[in-house]
Amino acid sequence: MDEENLSEAIRLEYRYLDLRRPSMQQNMRLRHRVSMAVRIFLDQTGFIDVETPILTKSTPEGARDYLVPSRVHDGHFFALPQSPQLFKQLLMVSGFDRYSQITRCFRDEDLRADRQPEFTQIDIETSFLSENEIMVLMENMIRHLFRSTINIDLPNPFPRMTFAEAMHKYGSDKPDLRVPLTLTELTDLMQEVPFQVFRDAAQKPGGRVAALRIPQGGDLSRKEIDDYTQFVAIYGAKGLAYIKINDRNKGPEGLQSPILKFLPESVIRAILERTQAQNGDIVFFGADKAKIVNDALGALRVKIGHERGLAEKTWKPLWVVDFPMFEWDEEEKRWKALHHPFTSPIEGHENFLTTDPEKALSRAYDMVLNGVEIGGGSVRIHRQEIQAKVFQALGITESEAQGKFGFLLNALQYGAPPHGGIAFGLDRIVAMMTGTDSIRDVIAFPKTQRAQCMLTQAPNSVTEKQLRELHIRLRNSSASTS
Ligand code: AMO
Ligand code: AMP
Repeated sequence: MDEENLSEAIRLEYRYLDLRRPSMQQNMRLRHRVSMAVRIFLDQTGFIDVETPILTKSTPEGARDYLVPSRVHDGHFFALPQSPQLFKQLLMVSGFDRYSQITRCFRDEDLRADRQPEFTQIDIETSFLSENEIMVLMENMIRHLFRSTINIDLPNPFPRMTFAEAMHKYGSDKPDLRVPLTLTELTDLMQEVPFQVFRDAAQKPGGRVAALRIPQGGDLSRKEIDDYTQFVAIYGAKGLAYIKINDRNKGPEGLQSPILKFLPESVIRAILERTQAQNGDIVFFGADKAKIVNDALGALRVKIGHERGLAEKTWKPLWVVDFPMFEWDEEEKRWKALHHPFTSPIEGHENFLTTDPEKALSRAYDMVLNGVEIGGGSVRIHRQEIQAKVFQALGITESEAQGKFGFLLNALQYGAPPHGGIAFGLDRIVAMMTGTDSIRDVIAFPKTQRAQCMLTQAPNSVTEKQLRELHIRLRNSSASTS
């Protein structure tokens, strides 16, 4: 069988042979060159590499922890770090103004092509720099990296976009700017229309109605539209209404759509004007909670853009800034930190923390490249009273906060300089450089989508003796020990 087409499970089981293939050899060599280039850049700009613990305590990145039971302390567990976040902030209190580390992070979360349970961060923290200074420095690093390893000149400077604009125009906080399509806002237009699906979404607080125009998309077949409808259903969309523009001059006669009869002519005219629809185009619609519309139309925009060859063949980095501090967790019915709870609100927004948490914006920034979030960071809170307000907004009591991160909160009282940082996903950066869809192709010994190592068969069962030493009794007797 052609080795390129072997199933991934077999490739991963015999990874030592798979790694002999020239493409894998090239990937691993590129990965080496990337980490060398990063280290050289960071050394030359005054960063020092400090290793932080792997056996540690839960860190606040929001995924599930990998736990390691302690033999010596009955019933106690270490957590593997989801990031070195707390330690790098402690290093700022210690007076290391520029810290960096290329280090492994561990997150027990749903896996996708761009997520592994253990992955590598280029982790960075600085004192006394504003977010603008951090962004400029980090852009320089990424530009240096692309130039020195794959001879690509990224733009200087990277464009910046607010979170609000990204969601509004692209339905995503990591827009793929290679695709020129944008969403059009229609919520205000749909307040009174007879079509109930649109009217309800428009009137509901937190609802959204938006359109996506595909130039010359009028040739899409019924079957293709059905396939796209199934595609957006993955994101929770209950349908995908559309209007095909056959001849704009003919008014409603020149249009083809299952929803025309539910929309007043004036509204149809306004839709065509706002979307700037031309003859031969198709306009798709999403109507639901804003999150569903954004996820569905945002993903459809990227899919159709690439499928129809509309995407520019280039590198399109950007910074996304002005993120909200919090997002509402429907399941748990409480506010959660969008970045992490040590992220500083922007100047003047401290007052919203306890009164209108949804209005508070943060000093966080993400670096996005071709629709992939390659890095994210923030300026941190270094004043105790603001930290207390953030915990209050998150519903974290003082004693909980002490129990979870008391050591950091105490340390901040010993004179913490203003500080901030960022972490990049090294695996993602290298994967993008090689053009592969999966970060597994740039990791020597990756895990499967089900978080297993096919080569070593980890995780596996352990002996009764080991469990006893660790003070562990299994609940499920079928998960028997070896
Ligand atoms: P964040 O959680 O955004 O920030 O992570 C930083 C970057 O790490 C990469 N990444 C991943 N790569 C592969 N597999 C994963 N499971 C995975 N999860 C994240 C992404 C992401 O942009 N401590 C903060 C940083 C800071 O504030 O300084 C943090 O970890 O590319
Ligand atoms: P229905 O009235 O349910 O037959 O839907 C009429 C058209 O609206 C169909 O093309 C559906 O795909 C579409 N549609 C239904 N619900 C939504 C929605 N929430 N957002 C966008 N289009 C929808």
